[in-house]
Amino acid sequence: MIYRYLDVSLVIYFSFIFTGVDSLSELPPPRNLSLSWAHCSLTAKWSKPTDLDSGCKVNYTVILCSKTKCPPNNTTYVDYRQTSHLSYKIFISNENEICITIMTNPLMCENKKKSKPVHQCISPPKALVNNFSCIYYSDKKMNCSWNFLSNISDLQFHYGVLRERFSQRPCTSYITSGPLKTGCHMHSDDIAEKMCLIINRTTEHDPTNSFVIEPREIVKPWPPKLKIIREGEYLHFQSSTPDFQPHCWQHMYMYSKCKEKDDQVHTGDKHSNWSVRVPYDEACRYTVRVQANYSPYCGKGASDWSEPEYYGEDVDPNWPLMVAVIVIPVIVSCCLITALVLFKRHKDIILPAIPEPSLLFKDMLNSNNDGLSKNIGVGKLYVPIKEVVEKDVSLEPKSVLYPGP
Ligand SMILES: *[C@@H]1O[C@H](CO)[C@@H](O)[C@H](O)[C@H]1NC(C)=O
Ligand SMILES: *[C@@H]1O[C@H](CO)[C@@H](O)[C@H](O)[C@H]1NC(C)=O
Ligand SMILES: *[C@@H]1O[C@H](CO)[C@@H](O)[C@H](O)[C@H]1NC(C)=O
Ligand SMILES: *[C@@H]1O[C@H](CO)[C@@H](O)[C@H](O)[C@H]1NC(C)=O
Repeated sequence: MIYRYLDVSLVIYFSFIFTGVDSLSELPPPRNLSLSWAHCSLTAKWSKPTDLDSGCKVNYTVILCSKTKCPPNNTTYVDYRQTSHLSYKIFISNENEICITIMTNPLMCENKKKSKPVHQCISPPKALVNNFSCIYYSDKKMNCSWNFLSNISDLQFHYGVLRERFSQRPCTSYITSGPLKTGCHMHSDDIAEKMCLIINRTTEHDPTNSFVIEPREIVKPWPPKLKIIREGEYLHFQSSTPDFQPHCWQHMYMYSKCKEKDDQVHTGDKHSNWSVRVPYDEACRYTVRVQANYSPYCGKGASDWSEPEYYGEDVDPNWPLMVAVIVIPVIVSCCLITALVLFKRHKDIILPAIPEPSLLFKDMLNSNNDGLSKNIGVGKLYVPIKEVVEKDVSLEPKSVLYPGP
């Protein structure tokens, strides 16, 4: 069984194949190399070279290059391995042209060096769809979608976990656009392992488009839900918890406040209960977004950024000036008006008595240093005639009942 990540991408220069010691003679190359597609796999088969010395043991180098015709020239390889068998199998999508190169290597062989390479190319079957892509977006849930190259009404989709004995099951929940199937929604316990997805037609056996995917490499959940809570001097950014593998997630919060151009970034995870806390400036409006990131230790992927949430309002930086220019004069005028009204109403109390001017001047002239006001106040004020108020009017003499003190 051959498992290999397909994104191994090292540049190989085929010239290195020919380096060696000239005094050694080359081994004969493998014969009859043939390639074939099966569901999500490519198989190469070849025969032992003829004319091998009986005491000579050999093995084979296999190099697989994608998106290229043979011979591959200064290109990147998808797989490179050595085997002593006469076949090779790899799980791979049949979307691209593939070139396989094989050489015979001396394992226990006197004075021999590796053979010249032999190449064989295989084309992908005719594509039924393009832009095929899948997202693993929730626990045990995955969506795949595609675009049609032509209107095919009898298209069908199968999927299964990629094992040596591959069992496929039909899609039960198609995503459609009118009469056409444009995607499949999968809900299954199996989603997590490497999978094989197959698109073909019910009426024909060929072509079959097959895709190898690893759900954990194409993770894309919905953005988390975001809440902003004020706690005293701080703001808490709180987001909803991921619905699978919590240890694999980190939530990034990006926020700006007031008119600040630069966003600040904080991260929250399982240990911080998916929240972060930042100091709160009451004079600022906060704009906050959140994104869920899948850890590289678990796979690859992230949600989109959430829609922004807002908190607070910007306070106009000119407002102290506004207070000075508008509010204070308004308050002062109000006070003045109130004062005037009150003054008018209670004029007699506020300005009770005006001394007779003649007396006043006379007094000023006569006054000593002990104070004008005292003389004015105490001495010669106009004094209204005292009303006589009878306080002790009683109908019965008190002394009769209660002897006075
Ligand atoms: C295998 O290769 C030899 C030459 O190397 C050739 O004569 C023979 O026909 C090939 N057999 C097949 C089945 O292709
Ligand atoms: C194949 O042979 C080479 C020597 O030419 C050796 O280094 C390598 O380990 C061998 N690989 C296998 C899988 O036998
Ligand atoms: C679909 O694929 C074609 C090429 O095959 C590309 O030009 C086009 O931009 C893709 N469309 C989308 C929506 O990705
Ligand atoms: C996947 O497809 C289902 C069914 O059409 C839909 O309800 C769901 O929102 C899709 N998920 C995503 C992330 O697009």
